[in-house]
Amino acid sequence: MPERTPLIAGNWKMYKTQGEARALAREIRQGVPAGVRAEVMVAPPYTALAAVAGELEGSPIRLAGQDTFWEKQGAYTGAISPVMLADLGCHYVIVGHSERRQHFGDTNQTVNRKLLAVLEAGVVPILCIGETLEERQAEKTLHVVAEQLKEGLAGLPGDARERPVIAYEPVWAIGTGLTATPQQAQEVHAFIRSLLRELLHEAAETTLILYGGSVTPDNAASLLSEPDIDGALVGGASLKADSFLKIIAAAG
Ligand code: 13P
Repeated sequence: MPERTPLIAGNWKMYKTQGEARALAREIRQGVPAGVRAEVMVAPPYTALAAVAGELEGSPIRLAGQDTFWEKQGAYTGAISPVMLADLGCHYVIVGHSERRQHFGDTNQTVNRKLLAVLEAGVVPILCIGETLEERQAEKTLHVVAEQLKEGLAGLPGDARERPVIAYEPVWAIGTGLTATPQQAQEVHAFIRSLLRELLHEAAETTLILYGGSVTPDNAASLLSEPDIDGALVGGASLKADSFLKIIAAAG
């Protein structure tokens, strides 16, 4: 089986002023043990990206944007482009987070435009997909996830330098304290990988599929031990260095 280096990603959402973000980044930087197997990433709010970039300079911890618009520049008041995020040192940009879909009108089509624009800027998109509780109860999970994945990845250039990362985040598990069991998550991750084999062929074996939704130091190790769970996208537990560092340690 190909080796996939786990990615432990912290999504800080709409938390942390510049000063708070700087302090958290410093604690994480100081706490990540040398030689840790996982890659570590943090996604502060836009307003703290520059501050955190400064704090992480020279460290292997990666920076990410939480969202983006798809145009490079233009009269789009309030928007931020992938080029601007690349310029700030972002290695990753999250697209299609369920909170963007729920509160800001993102659709599979707009998420796809964002994903392609991120790739064009030479940055790695993290495509979030996942079903709602209603969809799971109606046994539509695999259908919803397949549609989000296929439509989100539509038009992916065969020769793209950077490969997207996929994050499976069941909406009912986000911020609720309800986590998918390792078996529930693995079932969907294996399904996603089988779809990726159709879409990306051999690149599916090296594509990272992260799990997100109430990941904590207590459940991280068992989730990460599943064969198709290649890392975690962590919300609440990434806002404190102590819990985030424990999750990093759980990745080996
Ligand atoms: P929580 O870890 O707070 O459930 O958030 C998950 C998430 O949305 C990460 O993007």
